[in-house]
Amino acid sequence: MASPGFTSASSPPLPASAPASVSPSASASASAVPSEVAVTDSARSRIPRFYRLSIDERRELLRERVDLSEADVAALDSGGIHPSVADRVVENVVGVYALPLGLGLNFQVNGRDVLVPMAVEEPSVIAAASNAARMVRQGGGFAADADEPIMTAQIELLGVPDPAVARARIEAASDELLAMAGATLPRLLERGGGPRELEVRLGNHPARVIVHVHVDCRNAMGANMVNTVAESLAERLAALAGGRSGLRILTNLCDRRLVRVRARVPVAVLGVRGEGDAAEAFSGADVRDGIVAASQFAEDDPYRAATHNKGIMNGVDAVVIATGNDWRGVEAGAHAFAAANGKGQYRPLAVWRTGDDGSLIGKLEMPMPVGVVGGTLKAHAGARLAQRILGPAATSATELAMVIGSVGLASNLAALRALATDGIQRGHMALHRRSAELKHDGQATRPQERAAEHTRDRGTKEDSP
Ligand code: MEV
Repeated sequence: MASPGFTSASSPPLPASAPASVSPSASASASAVPSEVAVTDSARSRIPRFYRLSIDERRELLRERVDLSEADVAALDSGGIHPSVADRVVENVVGVYALPLGLGLNFQVNGRDVLVPMAVEEPSVIAAASNAARMVRQGGGFAADADEPIMTAQIELLGVPDPAVARARIEAASDELLAMAGATLPRLLERGGGPRELEVRLGNHPARVIVHVHVDCRNAMGANMVNTVAESLAERLAALAGGRSGLRILTNLCDRRLVRVRARVPVAVLGVRGEGDAAEAFSGADVRDGIVAASQFAEDDPYRAATHNKGIMNGVDAVVIATGNDWRGVEAGAHAFAAANGKGQYRPLAVWRTGDDGSLIGKLEMPMPVGVVGGTLKAHAGARLAQRILGPAATSATELAMVIGSVGLASNLAALRALATDGIQRGHMALHRRSAELKHDGQATRPQERAAEHTRDRGTKEDSP
């Protein structure tokens, strides 16, 4: 199994040039909505000072970039799902539960600008990812690739008298078994997907055989399809093995569905300017070296790797949730992959090194089982809206996976840069204070003063997105 080292031949190449594509609106005044400015595709995700605008002004800018229907706009207020719909999605419904939805800015993935919908309750996650994406943009943006969307059905066979013989018989029947599996998924076959390969594993248990069926799920996350395959083959497999079938379910360690993302950050953009007496200044080289040291700490120590990966999942989950995907599946896959690397230790999903030219190079590799079709999209107007915001980046499961991986790498970069310099609390708490000062009913204590303070906090930060 691959791990996020720096030698993998499959790494996506970084863009050769470093175009710092800046929107014509960059010079617009901080308070005005630059609605007269045409939005070019190469600057779609650059909206300087977005955080200073009101919610209505931000929506106006969003509508300049994305063709939103009335239903889309309504979803921004309602949260995207009515209780009567929720009642048909899960059980015992008494209402709906909303999260803040924000836009991740500055993202450029494989040369394409993309606005990223992020649903998250933690302050500073969206600002930090946007800020890191701005730095990566100056190194040419994120370079990503993704495997075919392969999910794996796992069928456990028990009481097998001779596992080696069972393996030989199952492998000999592989074509028949794949055809049986395909017959259960006619619509997937029409779309060009379907069962691709069968694999037999012998575990430590003397009488257990495990069969994996790898299924190309095309644009679906695929859990239901893969579970159907597992159940449909179980009896035939048990007969071939001379045993009985045990569990029949997908594995969330979907290590044939990886996304790989690379980023280069020019050392000059990494520096942290000093602010009065309160903070030290850090040169770009200091910050780069601190980030590389933080990466090596995570590579050496599983306790640190867990927190390092949590920072990655801050960004990943926010997009997975906004797009209506199964974040528990993505979490399970991420952490299983971090642990099951053959190195005997839980490892970071992204690592950082100094490149030959002195720039900072980051590389992420992790499973990304997400889809752009499926039941949640039918039920949830917010998920449909998220797809509209993503535009071409949500036209296939692999395109979406590459964007999500990029947001994960950006979140990791932002966290390590903060940890390697001032620590996270100063920036984090400035944003956290705004929600901490809400009264129990969610009303602002002193709305006008708070709004002014927000502008002050953020306006003086050199790294405001
Ligand atoms: C907090 O949500 C995430 C961090 O702890 C990640 C990290 O330590 O790398 C800041």
